[in-house]
Amino acid sequence: MSGHGDPIRMTARKSAALSGVAEVPGDKSISHRALILGALSVGTTKITGLLEGQDVLDTAKAMAAFGAGVTREGAGAWTVEGVGVGGFAEPADVIDCGNSGTGVRLIMGAMATSPITATFTGDASLRKRPMGRVTDPLALFGARAYGRAGGRLPMTVVGAAEPVPVTYATPMASAQVKSAVLLAGLNAPGQTVVIEKTATRDHTERMLRGFGAEVSVEATAEGNRITLTGQPELRGQTVAVPRDPSSAAFPVCAALIVPGSDILVPGVSQNPTRNGLFLTLREMGADISFENEREEGGEPVADLRVRFSELTGIEVPVERAASQIDEYPVLAAVAACARGTTVMRGVHELRVKESDRIDAMARGLEACGVTVEEDDDTLIVHGLGADGVPGGAAVATHLDHRIAMSFLVLGLAARAPISVDDGSPIATSFPVFEPLMRGLGAGIVREG
Ligand code: S3P
Repeated sequence: MSGHGDPIRMTARKSAALSGVAEVPGDKSISHRALILGALSVGTTKITGLLEGQDVLDTAKAMAAFGAGVTREGAGAWTVEGVGVGGFAEPADVIDCGNSGTGVRLIMGAMATSPITATFTGDASLRKRPMGRVTDPLALFGARAYGRAGGRLPMTVVGAAEPVPVTYATPMASAQVKSAVLLAGLNAPGQTVVIEKTATRDHTERMLRGFGAEVSVEATAEGNRITLTGQPELRGQTVAVPRDPSSAAFPVCAALIVPGSDILVPGVSQNPTRNGLFLTLREMGADISFENEREEGGEPVADLRVRFSELTGIEVPVERAASQIDEYPVLAAVAACARGTTVMRGVHELRVKESDRIDAMARGLEACGVTVEEDDDTLIVHGLGADGVPGGAAVATHLDHRIAMSFLVLGLAARAPISVDDGSPIATSFPVFEPLMRGLGAGIVREG
């Protein structure tokens, strides 16, 4: 059964000014997609800058189980020998996606229109998360899914032998659902259409085009209408993965709340479907400049120069939620160090991430002496100013890497140390978090 080994208790202490260069790893969303599209292509895909976090390693292993040749050539450098659209073989064993919702949902989509059967599982966090949001649209293609109550893993998916194309309006803002449908549409004849009311990260659409598929996006009254022409011949590509804005968020936020800090975070993706946090922080008064703006691997990137800032709470625009959905935990930590109140509405999706992130942040912040309010769809943080957070708490992370990193960042500015019960899931997305943060001067240590 999937697990994380022994829990790693970690503590962050009030730190002197952070300085230096923070080279964060490759983007997790793009890394998953590069492996999956490489596996669905004819020929060789060469990937550089791949995130070697556990989530992505689990997807690499899964692609090998479906018949692709996946080889690590060096640090972040991987090749994938693809089997072509419709060429997946039936895996001989259960596919274990570990902690990764993106991995399992995208892979279910990618295999759902081939005449094969696969059984998926994951760790205790992933086994609690809903899969109906992808298996419902996959059923429209003709696939069948048999899982635990509530559409939970372990789950067996029987791919459609004669798939039909689908038009599907996503009921929630989810790039995973959109991507699962598009990946399934690859092996269906005709046109598969996804309509999304709110634009979510568009890496699948960008990369599908890069691999040779025909994908069009039309803005309509219902939202973006994305049309994929099925059964293309995808061709192996060279993919340079840009650095992950969701990982950059942690050193950026740490520098903003630790007095005197001044750091550079180079080469961070500024894809407009991903950069919401940086816009929000600037509205709160953050001193972040975007230097050397350029394009890398088909994505806009910039070097971020970040200096400590006296922040002010704001009402975060609801329409920005999708473009910073993974950044709310660290935003909530930063909001605790701002003057005034930060209101985060329209964030219900946080309840079905690696943990219930509204609840995890609310309980953890309260333990650190911060007043919060929450309802099903809202988190409100009453900030205590730059040196106002008492800290001195041990926080439960619920197998959630971003909850762990958010409280370790907060601990760098709180008056008394903050501990997290288990930092081991940090390795799923940001395996070099500890050395990178310590290199900037952050007082983060393992206990015991
Ligand atoms: C992701 C989509 C988002 C995000 C996740 C990565 C992706 O999930 O939270 O970390 O790569 O497509 P949802 O699709 O559930 O919003």
